[in-house]
Amino acid sequence: MQFEKNKSLKEFNTFGIDCKANHFVSVSTIAELQELLQHEDHQKKFILGGGSNILFTRDLDELVIHIDLKGIFVKHEDEDHIILEVMAGENWHDLVEYCIDHDYGGIENLSLIPGNVGTAPIQNIGAYGVELKDVFVSCKTLSVESFTEKEFQKEDCNFDYRNSIFKSVEKGNYIITSVILRLSKRNHKINADYGAIQQLLKDKDISNPTIRDISETVIEIRRSKLPDPQILGNGGSFFKNPVVDLAIFNDLVEQYPNMPYYRISENSYKIPAGWLIDTAGFKGMRVGEVGVHKDQALVLVNFGNAKGNEIKDLAITIQKEIKGKFGIELEAEVNII
Ligand code: EPU
Repeated sequence: MQFEKNKSLKEFNTFGIDCKANHFVSVSTIAELQELLQHEDHQKKFILGGGSNILFTRDLDELVIHIDLKGIFVKHEDEDHIILEVMAGENWHDLVEYCIDHDYGGIENLSLIPGNVGTAPIQNIGAYGVELKDVFVSCKTLSVESFTEKEFQKEDCNFDYRNSIFKSVEKGNYIITSVILRLSKRNHKINADYGAIQQLLKDKDISNPTIRDISETVIEIRRSKLPDPQILGNGGSFFKNPVVDLAIFNDLVEQYPNMPYYRISENSYKIPAGWLIDTAGFKGMRVGEVGVHKDQALVLVNFGNAKGNEIKDLAITIQKEIKGKFGIELEAEVNII
């Protein structure tokens, strides 16, 4: 384990914010992590995974622990399914590619999501009709308090839309060290209901898509509207899609008959935050080094040298405007530090 001082975190967050960690260490084994937690138990710690859902607005005084645990292990398999244990520091999309190459089905709709495997359960990553919880069996963790290992089964995790126990009541209390997933080996359940997927498959004349077809389609859709963090710093969707009740929904539909929505239940409807921000006129807007992406208004971008606070200020401006125009509170999806 090598401790570093005054380390720039620019390469460790997809927004590309150039803040500093006073103390930084990367861990590649669970034993190292356990040792670190025990010996440095007087010091506040900050656990850093893939850095894809974080906006840093300050330098970090805490000891920054970068989780670099690697490995993919087969726990069990039969003719139909395989159970994989994947270490937290594996890149999420590399795992998706590994699964496609081995013809393991279940996470192809989650292609190209930035970040690492260990952070995927925290916000129950999801896209194009699939969420992590659909393939999740359990995850292994280390308790920050007791330094002991604890495995959380799916039902312990309180998974919800972009939420879990690790983002709510147990926030900061456990470090996820590996994730166990159950994937199909044959008779894959193909999720092609999402409008944009259906359209592209039709354009390509594919009527019986394989998991590789779905992955390639999702990659094409994402590339067409989501900026590549390597080129333009961003944290994916900045806000959650808000859920409104029937009365508010009816008012909105009357005013905006073309408003897209997803029906959650008889009395609750999810409205795309990207549509609200777009309709409020923010899409493609730039203020200095920060802005709203030109193809997807839900994504805030760093044009190069933005400070985290500039992005936060833009987010606050957007929240106020959306509240004023539509009466809806937008909640950040990204963790603001
Ligand atoms: N829309 C606009 N203008 C925009 C953006 C979107 O009018 O600038 C409209 C679209 O036309 C569409 C609707 O809003 O009718 C929904 O847009 P889209 O299909 O792009 O999905 P989203 O609701 O904006 C969510 C997730 C994404 C995920 C996609 C696909 C959240 C907060 N975001 O976006 O997740 O990839 O669905 O499943 O739930 C992420 O979490 O970082 C992320 C990218």
